[in-house]
Amino acid sequence: MSKGEDRFGTRAIHAGQRPDPTTGAIMTPIYQTATYAQESPGVFKEDYDYSRAANPTRKALERNLASLEGASHGLCFASGVSAEAAVLQLLKSGDHVILCDDVYGGTNRLFHRVFGQVGITFSLVDMTDLDALERAFTPSTRLVWLETPTNPTLKIIDIQRASELAHARKALVCVDNTFCSPYLQTPLALGADIVSHSTTKYIGGHSDVIGGALLLSDDELHERLKFIQLSVGAVPGAMDCFLLLRSTKTLHVRMQRHCDNAMKIAHWLSEQPRVERVIYPGLPSHPQFALAQKQMPGGCGGMVTIYVKGGMDAARTMLEKTRLFTIAESLGGVESLIEHPAIMTHASVPADQREILGITDGLVRLSVGIEDVDDLISDLDQALS
Ligand SMILES: Cc1ncc(COP(=O)(O)O)c(C=O)c1O
Repeated sequence: MSKGEDRFGTRAIHAGQRPDPTTGAIMTPIYQTATYAQESPGVFKEDYDYSRAANPTRKALERNLASLEGASHGLCFASGVSAEAAVLQLLKSGDHVILCDDVYGGTNRLFHRVFGQVGITFSLVDMTDLDALERAFTPSTRLVWLETPTNPTLKIIDIQRASELAHARKALVCVDNTFCSPYLQTPLALGADIVSHSTTKYIGGHSDVIGGALLLSDDELHERLKFIQLSVGAVPGAMDCFLLLRSTKTLHVRMQRHCDNAMKIAHWLSEQPRVERVIYPGLPSHPQFALAQKQMPGGCGGMVTIYVKGGMDAARTMLEKTRLFTIAESLGGVESLIEHPAIMTHASVPADQREILGITDGLVRLSVGIEDVDDLISDLDQALS
């Protein structure tokens, strides 16, 4: 079997990395250097002239993530939102972008309040309705941006169909794959042009790094994005790249456990009298269950959303009572977190829009970690009782 054909778990550990040529060190060293010695003016090793342009630790991470997403190229950034900004910097004034309606709040803010100021326009669309997506295109549409599952209502969008609609109109498709990681879903294989990640979440997995990445296969698009990465300079430091490389070695094992735990918890919550409704793409009750089974072959992820009976008071009491689920924003770490979107992550979304999206006062979002699932269930049991 050639290297390119290695399976996910093998690529997670080995892809993009080789023993360090100077010492044979098995682990990619932290090349904590801003610049590189040149033998003669303009004569340097590979493309290493300055670390904003290239750094060996970052390059190993970029190759590793590209391999996991089935991409030819990877570019790493200092945060998820700076990776997103690089994609928007491909556009110019007058261009139009279609976004899924419950996109991550920080993405919404970046797009509307930063790129909206330079004349790029945006339409928010519920992309589970492909007819609505089709109607949203204008002659100026250059980009379709989607997340699936969405946050926090975990809607599943058909990446393949959305890509076909966009490509028929010569628009690019970028999928924010943060909630899935490449272990669960690989959007490029379904027709997307670019995958974006907040590596802060499942890829990092330990809630100790802020980072972002773009993965893609088109050479010309890669050159343009690499130019933006170099020119804008929102690159991650070598230490953070090292930590992320260490994290990807266990991505497949962690994701499997996140999925197993979340599935058990979703089933258990479905039977609790104090819970009005459970949203989890792995439950047959989920509106896009069949699509999730097809599109997320690796599993349905670690995010579970519930509506508790009793609205705000009941939700607040539950959050205050959990012992293992910590009240915090973010997701995707080995430790379980719990949050209240209307007060926390989605507070910036106007109340009337929150209502339309189903982000009501009784809605609680769980990021299920990889602890012993029976302990997690006991914790939720005492918090709900
Ligand atoms: C789905 C999604 N995309 C992007 C981001 C932004 O990533 P970062 O916080 O690393 O900038 C987040 C952060 O919560 C997210 O949840």
